[in-house]
Amino acid sequence: MSQFQSLKVASVARNTREAVVVTFEVPEPLAAQYAFRPGQYLTLRAQIEGQELRRSYSICAAPTDRQLRVAIKRLNDGAFSSWANEELKAGDYIDVMPPDGHFTMAFDPQQARHYAAFAVGSGITPILSIVKTALATEPQSTFTLFYGNRASSAVLFREEIEDLKNLYMTRLSIVYVMSREHQDIDLLNGRLDGEKVEQLLDRWLDPAMIDYAFVCGPQDMTESVIATLHEKGLHKDRIKFELFGAPKGPRALRTGQDARKAPGEHCELTIVLDGVTRSLTIEKNKDSLLDSALSQGVELPYSCKGGVCSTCRCKVIEGEVDMDANFALEDYEVARGFVLSCQSFPVTDRVLIDFDQET
Ligand SMILES: Cc1cc2nc3c(=O)[nH]c(=O)nc-3n(C[C@H](O)[C@H](O)[C@H](O)COP(=O)(O)OP(=O)(O)OC[C@H]3O[C@@H](n4cnc5c(N)ncnc54)[C@H](O)[C@@H]3O)c2cc1C
Ligand code: FES
Repeated sequence: MSQFQSLKVASVARNTREAVVVTFEVPEPLAAQYAFRPGQYLTLRAQIEGQELRRSYSICAAPTDRQLRVAIKRLNDGAFSSWANEELKAGDYIDVMPPDGHFTMAFDPQQARHYAAFAVGSGITPILSIVKTALATEPQSTFTLFYGNRASSAVLFREEIEDLKNLYMTRLSIVYVMSREHQDIDLLNGRLDGEKVEQLLDRWLDPAMIDYAFVCGPQDMTESVIATLHEKGLHKDRIKFELFGAPKGPRALRTGQDARKAPGEHCELTIVLDGVTRSLTIEKNKDSLLDSALSQGVELPYSCKGGVCSTCRCKVIEGEVDMDANFALEDYEVARGFVLSCQSFPVTDRVLIDFDQET
């Protein structure tokens, strides 16, 4: 089910000067709907200064914590994050979409793996859930977490990370990299980006030891770290990533073919969502599939509308579409026909998309 539910805010706790942890109350009848896998996120919706805003926030608890909570870091002039940091309080109700996202892994008690994670700033939120779950589920596995921040005052979940370190003394290594606070080991000073990861993999952790890597942060960091991991021999199937934002402006990637040549042509679009099928006629060269459907009153799941979050992910069952930016889907998902409806435009005269397909 992709619909929003209004959930009560159980608490808003300050974690650093710039970030709050928001915990939601989940009524028993909704418990199954809000069960999540480590690394997944929630899409929140709120009316802020008369405008409806939707933003995605990763769940910063492990499924076994039995808590639904997110950490929201305030960005300068960031509309939603500033509101959440300054105005949101316990007792408020806020619209929350059920957990979503594929930045996750099925951990298996039989496995003995070494995982590495590279997180910057609020990128720690899904990683925290993943680290906790991996170590609790796989007693023979080990984890190295590289966590980049400006300074120690900005480190999210510092205490929780230290508690984890104490709990898993021999299986968890944590390496803090600080860009504006001097640390004794020179290697650990600077920004956690591709270049720094190259140095870390040369001197701290042998890349051949890494079975799977998780990368989470802003686009430039994520892309450069992934490039370094590739260069160091890690196959892309072994790298999982989540972007927390992409620059506005010209779209960076294109897949598919250029559909938008002849204006005025129409497409019969059929949409399956939550078991319900709807059909509508849309213009081919105007809006994305998502915007075309929304403008005709069809409520579909979305958050960023920028090709980053994957809330609008669906599968093309019939016809062909042209997808612009894709910062969210992995190659194997695109190969199976998944697209981001906020970035997809019809190519053929008939298109059938299904939001209920998982694989
Ligand atoms: C899957 C996913 C998970 C995420 N998880 C988390 C998480 O766990 N924690 C977290 O804190 N964030 C997370 N994010 C990011 C989050 O969704 C928001 O993007 C973030 O909080 C910023 O939203 P905002 O409304 O505050 O900022 P916006 O108002 O959307 O602004 C974003 C940035 O752009 C700048 N900006 C705004 N308007 C303009 C303009 N007109 N011109 C130039 N620059 C401008 C702002 O200063 C700000 O820095 C996640 C994102 C995704 C996609
Ligand atoms: S709404 Fe975020 S990728 Fe489409």
